Amino acid sequence: MPCPTRSDELVFFVNGRKVVERNVDPEVTLLTFLRKSLRLTGTKYGCGQGGCGACTVMVSRLDPTSKKIRHFSVTACLVPICSLYGTAITTVEGVGSIKTRIHPVQERIAKSHGTQCGFCTPGMVMSMYTLLRNHPEPSEEQLTEALGGNLCRCTGYRPILASGRTFCMESDGCQQKGTGKCCLDQGENDSSSLGQKSRMCTELFVKEEFQPLDSTQELIFPPELLRMAENPEKRTLTFHGERVTWISPGTLKDLLELKVKHPEAPLILGNTSLGPAMKSQERFHSILLSPVRIPELYVVSKTSGGLTIGAGCSLDQVKDILAEMSSELPEEKTQTYRALLKHLKSLGGQQIRNMASLGGHVMSRHFFSDLNPILAVGNATLNLISEEGMRQIPLNEHFLAGLASADLKPEELLESVHIPHSHKWEFVSAFRQAECQQNALPDVNAGMRVLFEEGTDTIADLSLAYGGVGTATVCAALSCQQLLGRRWNELMLDEACRLLLEEVSIPGSAPGGRVEFKRALVVSFFFKFYLEVLKELKTLLKLFPVPDSRRYPEIPDRFLSALEDFPVTIPHGVQTYQSVDSDQPLQDPVGRPIMHLSGLKHATGEATFCDDIPVVDKELVMALVTSTRAHAKIISIDSSEALVLSGVVDVITADDIPGTNGTEEDRLLAVGEVHCVGQIICAVVAETEVQAKQAIEKVKVTYEDLEPVIFSIEDAIKHNSFLCPEKKLEKGNIEEAFEKVDQTVEGEVHVGGQEHFYMETQRVLVIPKTEDKELDIYVSTQDPAHVQKTVSSTLSIPINRITCHVKRVGGGFGGKVGRPSIFGAIAAVCAIKTGHPIRLVLDREDDMLITGGRHPLFAKYKVGFMNNGRIKALDIECYVNGGCMLDDSELVIEFLILKLENAYKIHNLRFRGNACMTNLPSNTAFRGFGFPQGTLVTESCITAVAAKCGLPPEKIREKNMYKTIDKTIYKQAFSPETLIRCWNECLEKSSFHSRRMQVEEFNKKNYWKKKGIAVIPMKFSVGFAATSYHQAAALVHIYTDGSVLVSHGGNELGQGIHTKMLQVASRELKIPMSHMHVCETSTATVPNTVATAASIGSDVNGKAVQNACQILLKRLEHIMKKNPEGTWEDWIEAAFEQRISLSATGYFRGYKAFMDWEKGEGDPFPYYVYGAACSEVEIDCLTGAHKKIRTDIVMDACCSLNPAIDMGQIEGAFIQGMGLYTTEELKYSPEGVLYSRGPDKYKIPTITDVPEEFNVSFLPSSQTPLTIYSSKGLGESGMFLGSSVFFAIADAVATARKERDIAEDFTVRSPATPEWVRMACVDRFTDMI
Ligand SMILES: Cc1cc2nc3c(=O)[nH]c(=O)nc-3n(C[C@H](O)[C@H](O)[C@H](O)COP(=O)(O)OP(=O)(O)OC[C@H]3O[C@@H](n4cnc5c(N)ncnc54)[C@H](O)[C@@H]3O)c2cc1C
Ligand code: FES
Ligand code: FES
Repeated sequence: MPCPTRSDELVFFVNGRKVVERNVDPEVTLLTFLRKSLRLTGTKYGCGQGGCGACTVMVSRLDPTSKKIRHFSVTACLVPICSLYGTAITTVEGVGSIKTRIHPVQERIAKSHGTQCGFCTPGMVMSMYTLLRNHPEPSEEQLTEALGGNLCRCTGYRPILASGRTFCMESDGCQQKGTGKCCLDQGENDSSSLGQKSRMCTELFVKEEFQPLDSTQELIFPPELLRMAENPEKRTLTFHGERVTWISPGTLKDLLELKVKHPEAPLILGNTSLGPAMKSQERFHSILLSPVRIPELYVVSKTSGGLTIGAGCSLDQVKDILAEMSSELPEEKTQTYRALLKHLKSLGGQQIRNMASLGGHVMSRHFFSDLNPILAVGNATLNLISEEGMRQIPLNEHFLAGLASADLKPEELLESVHIPHSHKWEFVSAFRQAECQQNALPDVNAGMRVLFEEGTDTIADLSLAYGGVGTATVCAALSCQQLLGRRWNELMLDEACRLLLEEVSIPGSAPGGRVEFKRALVVSFFFKFYLEVLKELKTLLKLFPVPDSRRYPEIPDRFLSALEDFPVTIPHGVQTYQSVDSDQPLQDPVGRPIMHLSGLKHATGEATFCDDIPVVDKELVMALVTSTRAHAKIISIDSSEALVLSGVVDVITADDIPGTNGTEEDRLLAVGEVHCVGQIICAVVAETEVQAKQAIEKVKVTYEDLEPVIFSIEDAIKHNSFLCPEKKLEKGNIEEAFEKVDQTVEGEVHVGGQEHFYMETQRVLVIPKTEDKELDIYVSTQDPAHVQKTVSSTLSIPINRITCHVKRVGGGFGGKVGRPSIFGAIAAVCAIKTGHPIRLVLDREDDMLITGGRHPLFAKYKVGFMNNGRIKALDIECYVNGGCMLDDSELVIEFLILKLENAYKIHNLRFRGNACMTNLPSNTAFRGFGFPQGTLVTESCITAVAAKCGLPPEKIREKNMYKTIDKTIYKQAFSPETLIRCWNECLEKSSFHSRRMQVEEFNKKNYWKKKGIAVIPMKFSVGFAATSYHQAAALVHIYTDGSVLVSHGGNELGQGIHTKMLQVASRELKIPMSHMHVCETSTATVPNTVATAASIGSDVNGKAVQNACQILLKRLEHIMKKNPEGTWEDWIEAAFEQRISLSATGYFRGYKAFMDWEKGEGDPFPYYVYGAACSEVEIDCLTGAHKKIRTDIVMDACCSLNPAIDMGQIEGAFIQGMGLYTTEELKYSPEGVLYSRGPDKYKIPTITDVPEEFNVSFLPSSQTPLTIYSSKGLGESGMFLGSSVFFAIADAVATARKERDIAEDFTVRSPATPEWVRMACVDRFTDMI
């Protein structure tokens, strides 16, 4: 069949509009097409790997077999545009718009406060919208499943689920559902145990306001596509790109012919395997064969012996088919189907399951494949087809290992997969352990099947297959062979484990390493299988009595819980806050849960982020060449090959910088030497992103390696490699105190680093102007003034020529304080040299590689204490890994040791902090700024003391907590009254003591599952330790129509600062917020700003806005007095007539803050935020998995400016903290290359990680007269409370170890990953390794 040289027309619909593409490039993804060609920028780029869901859109297609329209969500970044022939795409813009009509999904996510930075929101909306198109009244389980593939770094997911739940059939809108009580039952007047008079509320939104879901309003499937589908095009369609040709035949015959002609060409279905491989491993295929229009690949047939599923069916369709079979057939026949179903629920996110095909999954033969091990043990066969005819091959170990004799021939393709029914006396199970419950690749998985001789427990057949333990799925055929004929008992179990450990040998170079953990899982899974089968046999026994001699072993009751998996649960909880006084005027918004100003625009995709700014005239794209060596001399940079590539304009090196190239230690572009992998060496400027990325591969940098190469803190200490002098604080006489105590304990704590994983990667657009060297810079930053200043010194032009604009930032968390200035400055150099506007959008991988994150910490401690638990002396020596440059490391160290005492009064203290210089990318600011790492050490000391004293940790905490007005280690006076109140209220609200007893009771009864509970107090200091950093300014204009424009120095990062500022202005000017607007943060309107950070942004900028408004009001006072009945508009008109300035600058000089490090004393912080959190978890000692049962947080928010926003900050920070302490793990290669780049390798919490019950309450009636309207900055503090989950896990592990008679104290290591938990719960299986 000849392949035409001209491209066919690609026809599909987007948001009801027909798209006809005549010269489509098969390499273009739907995401690029939407954003660049159609300018539909609501769909976002977050990772480009299908792992974050930011790019989710809905695809609708007529199913050729059922003739029904199938709506399914996909991640547009993995969808090749050519695969869309004949489909209808709906993007967030097609769902609703603030200009016309917003959709109920959009309305509810915004009004339920489910958006913060809003970058994930369009993706969330699309996942929820697609769900509702298929299930207008979904179950809560369906809702969680639908959102499982969407990451959010800001909200902590709770409010997103709350919005989705309003559509669910079971929903009654009550957020306390699941706790047995309704919030309405307790009234709105829970004045708390402390007898305060304040009115407490639990409603953050009014469900009754929501418009109903009306499915008749949805976009219809285009009739033209219906006609096309009913009369399908049989002709082969061909699309030629520059490098790749896409061929989509219309018949099986043509496909088989093409396969003969192009045997090397892959079949492309979901592209979830091929796409990432083409991108990351640079596997290039010049011809792609798309079988998407071949009906034979979608046929499902049921026979008496089994089920045959077309290779083209998506994994989601497979799930539905298997569910149907499992409900139709007797259980004994559906063992394999149920095992597959179990894994299909957690494989990838919903979008991946919608896109990935069964054929693609089987044929990819990933070593981690969740389905292949089950299909292999279930004796599945593959139906192959070619022009020669059909044949079957078994899906067995040889096929999975890719042996040529057991594989497809080049001209063959997989038509379908046959899965036989299971039989009586046959049992099939599936096991899986991943870093998170959902949307995470498995560490190890397994499929296991056993067949018994009828009526006996004698093994007639056994198959065990493992994933994640080698380069392909491993079938333990030898072990199985040797176990045939054995009885199903303990002896067999021991023998099986021994054999398995011998056969499934995991090389040290196994993907992802973790050899011991994986070996432990190999046998632990088998033990679970052993128990499961034993239980089933016992059930059968009741029907088939066996003689006593053949009795099966008893399963001790304490072992039964090993059989239960942690189910995916839907979180519930209550958010309690103090309502405003009843006499507060209705129009005064302060203290009310006002929706984020951009909430609706986030939800409709109309909120503009940096890269959503349309392409400007003559714009070029910049890409960065980074070091591949950790420490080396740069011998040469040869860009000649790059420069000759089509579209490449220039390569910019340090020599092109007209001004200063950063500092001596911290260069913008490397000069002479590189100090880490990922250090920026030069920048390529090209016409398109693709050209720029191709060109960076062609820039040849030659290096000469240098010594030493230091990666770890331990090595840095050995080499005396530090970034700054040690910081020290001391109180009392520590040496003397150690001599007088009853006991001492020493230990070590390791806290891993953390990646910011803001959903919007670093972006900047620099537009040079034609006059006076002016530059406009649009940048995603927390500190535009810093970008402005850095650009100025880099270009050697005055600051006044540079204007930085920040509309909004898609998440910062500290990662956009210092780094954006580097990207802005390099882009500015490119812009000046080329004379063109320059855009930079960092790839997720590059962002993670280059930008650094939270400082990892290593600490040694010694605690001296009395037998009653009173701590008398505490000596902590901390080392953080600062990476290769100073950045914020010195400040981090300072903050760390200033905050290290947390809530405890200890008379004799010594805290020392050091920042290590290593050959890793420079670490930087991150929410909490050292506090979350440092305080984990302090709390670990407490648990160590508790273990030694034989007392519960909460008793030690209580005993040592500040109780009365006192002074901190740095002699700052404070009152701990609210700290104590938070603690007591948290104990009470969480029913801590009775639950502690229940936990103990559970643990006595269960050997393989353990529960743990922990309650943690917190004293968090807000702000910077310098007065100048607390200054803030605002500019308020009143226009002649009465509308008000508020500008201030804070940046909108999702924390709702603009919303809060308008609340302040509204109260001050006594006009509704609807009269007001914030346009952007710009260095031209408010100059010399300070970074929006340290939890203080709203606080200080609020004071500045208040000041500006008060100045204006003062000017208007006499006019108002003169005409008291007049309207705002009348007064403004009169003011204009009287030539009264309607514009005012507001200024706040800042809170006094200083620290004298010589003396070790000062008043470094304006105030403290207090809080307490209690978490309960259950761990699976056999796998290391954990379930978060419940978390209760009590936070002292004082008089919250906006309870919905503050609640969101606390919840979001808590979940981010939970990620730090439980799942987020940075992994490096031995050469210092960050391996964990992207959402597949670095696991931030997903929607299923939220505690099953999650309650947050604000402490009633607390005051802090210092701040704006007595509110508190709550941006960071919740982060540390995530450690309550860590300590609950540690509590459970400690219980398991105690029961197993293992020494209790062990090195504390965060994150408490499944690997750490499993290996700490030493047992007979870990002993075998
Ligand atoms: C974000 C993400 C998360 C994931 N999570 C998981 C997970 O948790 N567990 C897990 O097991 N997997 C996971 N995967 C992998 C996923 O299951 C596979 O990528 C997917 O099943 C491949 O199917 P596809 O249709 O996309 O294949 P494609 O990428 O389209 O094709 C893959 C390969 O299969 C070949 N092929 C496809 N169909 C046929 C056929 N009919 N005959 C012959 N050859 C064929 C192609 O030639 C190609 O080489 C994840 C993937 C992503 C992107
Ligand atoms: S950008 Fe597509 S899934 Fe992340
Ligand atoms: S609101 Fe979800 S990532 Fe910011």
